[in-house]
Amino acid sequence: MAHVIRIGLLGLGVVGSAVANALMEKGDHLTGRIGRRLEVARALVRDGDKPRGVDRALLTLDADDILDDPEIPIVVEVMGGENPAHEYIVRALRAGKHVVTANKEVMAKHGPEILSIAADRGVDISFEASVGGGIPVIGPFKLDLVANDIHELRAIINGTTNFVLTQMATRGADFAAALADAQRLGYAEPDPRSDVEGVDAAYKLAILGSLAFHTVVRPADVYHEGITTLSPADFRYARELGYVIKLLAIGRARDGAVELRVHPALMPESEMLAKVDGVFNAVEVEGDLVGRILFYGRGAGAGPTCSAVVADVIDLAQRLAACQASLWRPTYDGRYRFRPMDEVSTRYYVRLLAVDRPGVFAQITRALGDAQISLASVIQKQNLVVGDPPVEYAEIVLTTHEAVEASMQTAISAIAALPVVHEVGSLIRVAS
Ligand SMILES: NC(=O)c1ccc[n+]([C@@H]2O[C@H](COP(=O)([O-])OP(=O)(O)OC[C@H]3O[C@@H](n4cnc5c(N)ncnc54)[C@H](OP(=O)(O)O)[C@@H]3O)[C@@H](O)[C@H]2O)c1
Repeated sequence: MAHVIRIGLLGLGVVGSAVANALMEKGDHLTGRIGRRLEVARALVRDGDKPRGVDRALLTLDADDILDDPEIPIVVEVMGGENPAHEYIVRALRAGKHVVTANKEVMAKHGPEILSIAADRGVDISFEASVGGGIPVIGPFKLDLVANDIHELRAIINGTTNFVLTQMATRGADFAAALADAQRLGYAEPDPRSDVEGVDAAYKLAILGSLAFHTVVRPADVYHEGITTLSPADFRYARELGYVIKLLAIGRARDGAVELRVHPALMPESEMLAKVDGVFNAVEVEGDLVGRILFYGRGAGAGPTCSAVVADVIDLAQRLAACQASLWRPTYDGRYRFRPMDEVSTRYYVRLLAVDRPGVFAQITRALGDAQISLASVIQKQNLVVGDPPVEYAEIVLTTHEAVEASMQTAISAIAALPVVHEVGSLIRVAS
C-alpha cells in the first residue's frame, strides 16, 4: 500500500468541503499520480455541530490538533479573514509544514514576510487560489513568464462587481437593484462592502503586482475606488461612445515607476477584457517578450477554487514524495518606485448637469483649459428637470485627452464650483 501524506484543513466551508471531497473522490487517481495517498487527517471548524457530510471524528475546534501534529506535513488554510488565519499560517510554516492558502487578505497584507519565513524554514507556501479562483495566474508569474519584463497588467478580478456591472449594462438596472440580484443569486455576500468598494480587487492586485513587478506591494500602495456611485446614465453614454464600464485592476510600469489602481473604467468594447461578463474574471498581461496574453475563467466558486487549491496540494505532495524543495523564491529588485495616483496620466469621462444657456459651455472648457486639459468629445442630448422649485439643466458628457489626475481633480473642483453647474455626476477614467 502507498505511503500516506496527511493533510490538515483549516476550514471546512465552501472551499474546504470541495477540497475534502475532491481528495476523497479522486483518491485512487491521485495516488497513482503522486505515488502517495493523500488523506485529510483533521479539519478545523468553528461549529462542531453543523451537519457537513464528513466523518465527525475528522473535525476539531482546536487548531493545535493540526498545527502541533508532526504527522501532518501539509496544511491547507481555507478559513478566510486576516486573523487567526495569518497566525496559523505562520505557526504551520515555523513548525516545518508546507502550506496552501486561498487567502488573498493574508497574502496581500503579509505575503512578503510569510514567503520569507517559508524560505528560512525550507518549506513552501502556495497561493494559486488567492487570485482568480480556478484561473492559473500565480503559477504563470512564478514560472512561464519569468523571462519577461512585465509592462502592464489589467484585470477583472472581482466576480461580484463584474456581475453587478453586467446587470447594469444589459438590463439598465441601477446599482442597488443589480446588487440585490447578485445577493439573491449568491454572487454577493450579505455584507458586500469589500467587493463593491474595490478592496477585494485591491488585495488581489497587490498580490499580482508583487509578482509581476518584483516589488513589495502593500494594499496601501494600491489606489482603489468602487462601483457604488455609477449610474444607469453612465452605461447608456458609455455604449453610445463605444465603451463598456468595468471595474479594472491596473498595474503599469513606466519610466521607473509602477502605478497600481483599482477603479471603474470605460474600456473600448472591441477589447477582449470588455467581453468578460457576469461572474467571469480575466487577467491580461503584457510582457516584453510574450506580448499581450489573457487568462480567463471562473474566478470564484467551490469547483474552480478547489481546482487551484488541490493543484497546489498535489504539487507539494509530489515534491514531498520526491524529497525536492521548491526552487521558487520571490525576488524583489527595487527597480520601481510607486507612482502616486495624483501623478497618474489617463483619459477621462465626465457627466455633469449645467444651466442650458449660451456661454455656459465656454466656462466649463475654460476650467479644463486652465488645467491644461483638452477635450476629445462632447455629448449634450437631453435636458433634465431637477430641484424644488424645478430648474431645467442640460446633461453634458465630456471625454478628455490624456491628463494628469491632479490636474483633472483641480479642473473638476473648479467646474463644480461654477454657479452655472448644478452637479458633476460622474468622473470615470478611460482605459487606453
Ligand atoms: N468561496 C469562494 O468562491 C472563494 C474563491 C476564492 C478564494 N476563496 C477564499 O477561500 C477561503 C475560504 O472561503 P470559503 O468561501 O470556503 O469560506 P466559508 O465557506 O466561510 O468557510 C470558512 C470555514 O472556516 C471555518 N472557520 C472560519 N473562521 C474560523 C475560526 N476562527 N476558527 C475555526 N474555524 C474557522 C468555518 O467554520 P464553520 O464551518 O464552523 O463556520 C468554515 O468551515 C477564503 O480565504 C476566501 O477568500 C473563496
